Amino acid sequence: MKIQNKTFPTKIPRSDLVVAFAYDGAAPDLGGSLSDAVKDAKATGDLSTGTRKTSTFYPSGRGAPKRLGFVGMGDRKKIDTESLRRGAAVAQGLAEARSVASFHLVVDEKDHKGIDAEIAGRVVAEGLVLGSYTYQPPQKDKPKPRFGQKCEVLYRGKKAAAFKRGFGIGTKGANATNFARDVENRPGNIVTPTYFAKESRKLAGPHVKVKILGEAEMKKLGMMSFLGVSRGSAEPAKLCILDHNPKGAKKTVCIVGKGLTFDTGGISIKPSAKMDEMRYDMCGGGAVLGLFHAIANGALAGSPDKVRIVGMIAAAENMPDGLAQKPGDVVRACDGTTIEVLNTDAEGRLVLADALAYAKKVYKPVKMVDLATLTGAVVVALGHEMAGIMGTDEGLRDELVAAGKATDEPLWPLPLWEVHRDQTRSKFADVANINSPGHGAGSTNGGAFLSFFVGDTPWVHMDIAGAAWGGMPKDYYKSGASGTAVRTLLEWCRSLR
Ligand code: BES
Ligand code: MN
Ligand code: ZN
Repeated sequence: MKIQNKTFPTKIPRSDLVVAFAYDGAAPDLGGSLSDAVKDAKATGDLSTGTRKTSTFYPSGRGAPKRLGFVGMGDRKKIDTESLRRGAAVAQGLAEARSVASFHLVVDEKDHKGIDAEIAGRVVAEGLVLGSYTYQPPQKDKPKPRFGQKCEVLYRGKKAAAFKRGFGIGTKGANATNFARDVENRPGNIVTPTYFAKESRKLAGPHVKVKILGEAEMKKLGMMSFLGVSRGSAEPAKLCILDHNPKGAKKTVCIVGKGLTFDTGGISIKPSAKMDEMRYDMCGGGAVLGLFHAIANGALAGSPDKVRIVGMIAAAENMPDGLAQKPGDVVRACDGTTIEVLNTDAEGRLVLADALAYAKKVYKPVKMVDLATLTGAVVVALGHEMAGIMGTDEGLRDELVAAGKATDEPLWPLPLWEVHRDQTRSKFADVANINSPGHGAGSTNGGAFLSFFVGDTPWVHMDIAGAAWGGMPKDYYKSGASGTAVRTLLEWCRSLR
């Protein structure tokens, strides 16, 4: 989608569609050339202010737009970032439904009462851009042309510069999310570890350096936990490293994503029902790739404090095969830790173990974050509307929870205690990749295992198995991969000092 932000002109340009928000009580004040059209629309009694209700009018008169649309927003006192984002997405949907190629959206400062202008700019852009996304599957017939893909926002208020600043960030974050959604939605025969490596390389430029470790290099580094997962696959594993290292950076943070481009479970094979969904098992890697799409497009260029951000995508495919690893195998990670592989389907933690240990050793980060579609248990516990978060540092956890709140991608804390780490120890190696069935706490168990590879570096783990796909449709998300965490990570990176 192409979107732009301008300050409110005294005269609204001739347009195929002008959309405004309509709150309970007062009719929207569009001023000047449109005040009569608004009055006429209101007089019909058809102008609905109910939340997410739309109405369209066809004003006559010189200079009037062809169509005047309203998005009902309900009670002005209840407005929040999520309702504003959804409102913008509904406006985009209205343009699409009316088969309008290009439209205008009027945003008045009263439309975001109580929300800072910069934040309002960000969420309006997010709603428009995210709302414009639908996955285009490969198909025989040429895809039909899409409507509502061009929008000019006309901002009316005193803090136009702040609104515009936020609008720029929101556009980059949402474009990056749509990019991640595309990678995540594509099938496993297209999105392989090699595909991740190629897409990573495309992001190289002034803001991002890219390095890819292949299997030979990983073997030299002793990453036998990572490589064990990939043993049964004909697709070579890749560790993609994306490095944003601005001049003057004195601190480093590392962000690691699970990039299982398909997870059959391996020898501990999964049942066939819904196994196709395991093409989404790379959404942690998708989020990291999305974040670096935004960074490559200059999303952090204006940051006052320079922090080096290293992203890693641990990309592999988990397949059963004559060469595949077996339950009971013992492998050694690159930091020397030995692991008993009791279940080959608990593979995400095995690739992350090496990636985290390597990140810690090579980049000496002050903070580490990982994201993974790690456990079915987190879907049982929290569903699809939020992700679980746990780790070794409450301060860092709070930073990410705050970033998630700011972008309406909620993160809910789960415990990770010493007792959970104790449950992860093995008789046949230092640790086992699953605890014994009686212990339960499946998501925490995954986190507890990972904690053995981060040492004393402050670290948090986000289990996005629920949030990555399967959520309720909500105007700016229709179905399939949600592109979750791209905006949260960007927000967190923007807050780093
Ligand atoms: N990728 C799965 C987790 C998953 C399952 C995500 C369902 C989304 C929906 C992961 O690799 C896995 O298989 N985890 C196992 C762990 C178990 C063997 C301890 C699980 O959750 O069943
Ligand atoms: Mn698995
Ligand atoms: Zn998996």
